Amino acid sequence: MAIEQHQSASDIFDDSKQAMLAAIVDSSDDAIVSKNLNGIVTSWNRGAERIFEWKEIEVIGKHISIIIPPDRLSEESLIIGRIRQGQRVEHYETIRMTKSGKMLNISLTVSPIKNSAGVVIGASKIARDITERVAIERKMKEYAEQLQKLNRHKDEFIGMAGHELKTPLTSISAYLQLLDKADITGDNKRFVTKALQNVAKLSGLVTDLLDVSKIEAGKLQMNIEKFDLVELLQESVDNFRHITLSHTIEYHTKEKPIYVSGDRSRIEQVMINFFTNAVKYSPDGKQIEVQLKRTDGDVIVSVHDKGIGVAEDQLDKLFSRFYRADELPGNISGLGIGLYISKEIVIRHGGKIWVESELGKGSAFYFSLPIVSK
Ligand SMILES: Nc1ncnc2c1ncn2[C@@H]1O[C@H](COP(=O)(O)OP(=O)(O)OP(=O)(O)O)[C@@H](O)[C@H]1O
Ligand SMILES: [Mg+2]
Repeated sequence: MAIEQHQSASDIFDDSKQAMLAAIVDSSDDAIVSKNLNGIVTSWNRGAERIFEWKEIEVIGKHISIIIPPDRLSEESLIIGRIRQGQRVEHYETIRMTKSGKMLNISLTVSPIKNSAGVVIGASKIARDITERVAIERKMKEYAEQLQKLNRHKDEFIGMAGHELKTPLTSISAYLQLLDKADITGDNKRFVTKALQNVAKLSGLVTDLLDVSKIEAGKLQMNIEKFDLVELLQESVDNFRHITLSHTIEYHTKEKPIYVSGDRSRIEQVMINFFTNAVKYSPDGKQIEVQLKRTDGDVIVSVHDKGIGVAEDQLDKLFSRFYRADELPGNISGLGIGLYISKEIVIRHGGKIWVESELGKGSAFYFSLPIVSK
């Protein structure tokens, strides 16, 4: 009969499908292996030969435990237990052993093989060699730990250096103040004034560095009291106007007292950071505007300049420690910690800090604090 002499079209289709699947299995980089429910290997592809070094002919009919390290033999019965229940085991990361005894990191996916009646008769297993990935992950973890350690050393060093610098600075400053009060005139007077100004600048830098190390150590102290923010802002603007000849600072408010709870001098520090930045980063735009606004429950202080601005992709980094925008003009110096300290202070007060800016047009820095009743 024709039917016995020729394969039907669907048989041919099945055959070519089988052949294709066999070719895929054969050419896979992963080990693809099947075994029966007793753990006896029933098929072994070329990927398995390459990874585990056993030839197909050597392992067919043998127990899968030849590739399981002795201390992991119990895993096999766990896996088989799940397979018997018709469940899959996916991306199970473990260790397997090659013929020469080399240990490999392996990611295993094991699925049940069912017969046409739906009964589980064995398991197919795909094993991927992830030794390289695991080694890279381990290296990365080591690097991360080393980095953390170095970072801690750096913080400790900054703290120590800050303290060491502070003592002689205080003494220099005291002697200069004595000289300043002495009967000196002309150039000498001018030199002492200049020296005092520079010592004050240096002290400011050292204090900022010490603040950073206190923040890192969780030891930034706050002296909390209730105070009028409108008054503090007015005072800070007045003081700043006094020492700033290069820029005009506009600030008008009709607000009545607005009370906040916090450390008055720390909040003043944030305002001064904003003012000094506005001046420093506006070599050409000479106008700075300060605003104070009241919203539902909060008071917002902002400082607007017409300076160099900040590129959009840098905005969220400005408040990080030691960060300075890329491509700053070379003559504008700084440590990149003013905004980091400001952020810490504002957040510790339950407030928010943010920036709006356009490169080449100018920036506006904001902070808000919760209003408290008088
Ligand atoms: N008003 C501003 N206009 C443009 N860029 C600004 C402005 N304020 C801050 N920046 C950018 O944010 C960065 C971080 O500011 P931050 O005040 O923390 O540090 P700094 O001014 O560089 O140094 P310092 O710690 O001495 O204040 C600055 O380096 C600058 O790139
Ligand atoms: Mg600054």
